[in-house]
Amino acid sequence: MNKMARILVTGGAGYIGSICAYHLLQAGHDVVVVDDLSRGHRHNVAPERLRQVNILDTGKLTEILAAQPFDAVMHFAAYIAVGESVESPELYFANNVGGAVSLFRAMRESGVSRLVFSSTAAVYGHPSRSPITEAEPIAPVNPYGESKAAVERMLGWLDRASNLRSVSLRYFNACGADADSGLGEQHDPETHLIPLLLRAVHTGKPATLFGDDYPTADGTCIRDYIHVTDLARAHVLALEYLLDGGATVSLNVGTGRGHSVREVVEAAGEACGRPVPYNIGPRRAGDSPELVADPARLKSLLGWQPRCTDLREIASSAWEFFTRRAK
Ligand code: UFG
Repeated sequence: MNKMARILVTGGAGYIGSICAYHLLQAGHDVVVVDDLSRGHRHNVAPERLRQVNILDTGKLTEILAAQPFDAVMHFAAYIAVGESVESPELYFANNVGGAVSLFRAMRESGVSRLVFSSTAAVYGHPSRSPITEAEPIAPVNPYGESKAAVERMLGWLDRASNLRSVSLRYFNACGADADSGLGEQHDPETHLIPLLLRAVHTGKPATLFGDDYPTADGTCIRDYIHVTDLARAHVLALEYLLDGGATVSLNVGTGRGHSVREVVEAAGEACGRPVPYNIGPRRAGDSPELVADPARLKSLLGWQPRCTDLREIASSAWEFFTRRAK
């Protein structure tokens, strides 16, 4: 059992960052959040924990890290929209890679040498096998995935150069809302499947399914949907692994089970109590037919198990959050 740790959470006003910050507090740790609120939401963080700072401001980050002893950093602050990254690669390299450089400088300056990093299954691009293990080649197919892969590579070098120990968590499809904290997914613009399906139910305007001619059983893409509370638990375990002296590692975070877009539509309809209106549209550029995690390494190294793998339960948690916000 670890003693209480003090953690700097960058991007802690965003969807996943705020839920992880909440679970760190629940696990008995202390948390300071850094967020510039450009994409996150002020109401996701208790005011006394929030420092409104841009991740590129190395001086401010160093000041915060030096003001009191920190045991580790969790780094969520990054842009996450694949389509936007294709249109504006420079934005993604500046914010995601430049932001990481800025943070790692500040950490080195202030002697903080443990990091949990938000990576993504997008680092694999179009993998040749499914489920995907961490041995799959890193071959991103968009600037978003490329920016995360670059940071993972940088972490490999920093491990050798400055003893920075890190866990890179490669998220598959994070979704759902966290029951305990009442926090959930709220992006603007929204691009993710589940919130868009819920919006379609709410407004009656049909969602678009991006292609039904993929080489899968029902023709729609298969993804590994991981409940955000299970994802948050993986972060707390990763932190405790590092505090116990764990070595630098990259880990898939997924359930190991794939679901098609049609299955998600079905589950969302059941969760909302009425069918989701939808059309079939063309394929979206860059989508892989199937992305499913092999989470064996996460399970064996951190003792993690997903608790919520039922799509309808995931969709219900998201619907509960959505309707509460829509009031
Ligand atoms: N989809 C639709 N219609 C929509 C939105 C999505 O049919 O309106 C489909 C997509 O084509 C895909 C699936 O639903 O097949 C899931 O799409 P999302 O946009 O919700 O998620 P992605 O799988 O594209 O991407 C997510 C994260 C990325 C991460 C990736 C890794 O958003 O950050 O998982 O697998 F890189």
